[in-house]
Amino acid sequence: MARSSSDARSRWWRSPATRALAGMATVAATAAVLVTAPGADAAASTLGAAAAQSGRYFGTAIAAGKLGDSAYTTIAGREFNMVTPENEMKPDATEPNQNQFNFSAGDQVYNWAVSHGSKVRGHTLAWHSQQPGWMQNMSGSTLRNAMINHIQKVMAHYQGKLAYWDVVNEAFNEDGSRRSSNLQSTGNDWIEVAFKTARAADPSTKLCYNDYNIDNWNYGKTQGVYRMVQDFKSRGVPIDCVGLQAHFTGGSSVPSSLQTTISSFAALGVDVALTEVDVTNASTSQYSALTQACMNVARCVGITVWGVRDSDSWRSSESPLLFDGSGNKKAAYNSVLNVLNSGGGTTTTPTTPTNPTTTPTNPTTTPTTPGGGSCTASLSAGQSWSDRYNLNVSVSGSSSWTVTMTVPSPARISATWNINATWPSSQVLIATPNGNGNNWGVTIMHNGNWNWPSVSCSTS
Ligand code: G3I
Repeated sequence: MARSSSDARSRWWRSPATRALAGMATVAATAAVLVTAPGADAAASTLGAAAAQSGRYFGTAIAAGKLGDSAYTTIAGREFNMVTPENEMKPDATEPNQNQFNFSAGDQVYNWAVSHGSKVRGHTLAWHSQQPGWMQNMSGSTLRNAMINHIQKVMAHYQGKLAYWDVVNEAFNEDGSRRSSNLQSTGNDWIEVAFKTARAADPSTKLCYNDYNIDNWNYGKTQGVYRMVQDFKSRGVPIDCVGLQAHFTGGSSVPSSLQTTISSFAALGVDVALTEVDVTNASTSQYSALTQACMNVARCVGITVWGVRDSDSWRSSESPLLFDGSGNKKAAYNSVLNVLNSGGGTTTTPTTPTNPTTTPTNPTTTPTTPGGGSCTASLSAGQSWSDRYNLNVSVSGSSSWTVTMTVPSPARISATWNINATWPSSQVLIATPNGNGNNWGVTIMHNGNWNWPSVSCSTS
């Protein structure tokens, strides 16, 4: 349960559940009765309280139209301490006619949330989808100005009230390029303009970029978003958080690299959250794995599931949530609660990569053999853990190659497969074929340095 970050500790202290526990401890002490107040190690019995033990939150999407359903509000009020309005703060809801704002549904969700001790995550200000009709046909500077006005007015209404705002939602293609949309057509700088506008409109709230299919570290879209956040950080464009929607429905499942993705974004200096979680048939192992991945990274601030009961889900046929249609806790609920209660596992301080990303292809290629052929050694990311990661190496161009790999200090290679290896020094590996083909790999203990090794290839 120990956390390395003082920020995390202060979040834990500020959380309502923690204050409640502290209050109970004080009462028990003053009354001098033989009652043991629950300590930080006592298992909590709701998702929100369990997450609060490590300074995190556990949230859900809430639909205004369901707030009259007492079965729904009973579960939601009991279990969750962060609320995302499912549709009520989107542009088509808040600005149905240009410059005429309607906050009634958004306020309904906000008021319900805060009256149940929950914080609120605003969703979303600039998105290619769920734009009001008047905005859909706009372009150029007219649209740019309309976007700026929308952000200013909506954020002014909720100024000082929201913990997070999804400023921009789903702006990338699967290959890591920008998604084409009317907003993108206003100029590539539209995202940073949105964030700068948002910061000026409400400096009290954390500003997030939110997207789906950015959970797998080895995926083009993840890399595209990572590069944008890295660029924003390096140029001082305000951004405080990245939301991985984590929809593991519709054919997706939790990738083994999820924790690497979370820690890599965190290492850029942003909060990370899983913002719209659902999992096909609520697989207990996948729910446990995604919860553990968040718990293992200090700056993973919370998890939000995208609805309360299966019947509330946008993909209800996949039964992807933690409560069934009758409001019963499912097996996945218990697995999530157990992971939250078991604490953080290894807490990874986000020291991760300066850049494990720039390498997907041919980090160093050495076509050198006077009089002979040439070869190329390409690296790709394999599985990773908190203390080590695997790299896959693929050699092309020749079947009789020698690859020299040099790891940056203080990293060390701890294992190899499919090669004959010799070691001129502790940080240099010379690899030659062992008869098992041209694909091989290494395990690297990073010791705090996640930069990938350099490689060169020569033929013999
Ligand atoms: O409220 C109307 C209702 O009056 C009408 O009869 C009915 C007919 O179709 O539509 C209702 O509105 C629907 C609305 O959900 C409320 O149920 C919209 O058609 C429907 O498009 C809308 O879907 C929402 C979807 O975003 C739209 O893109 C889902 O509820 C919502 O869960 C979903 O959430 C998104 C996140 O914002 C971003 N990430 C992906 C996630 C899932 O798609």
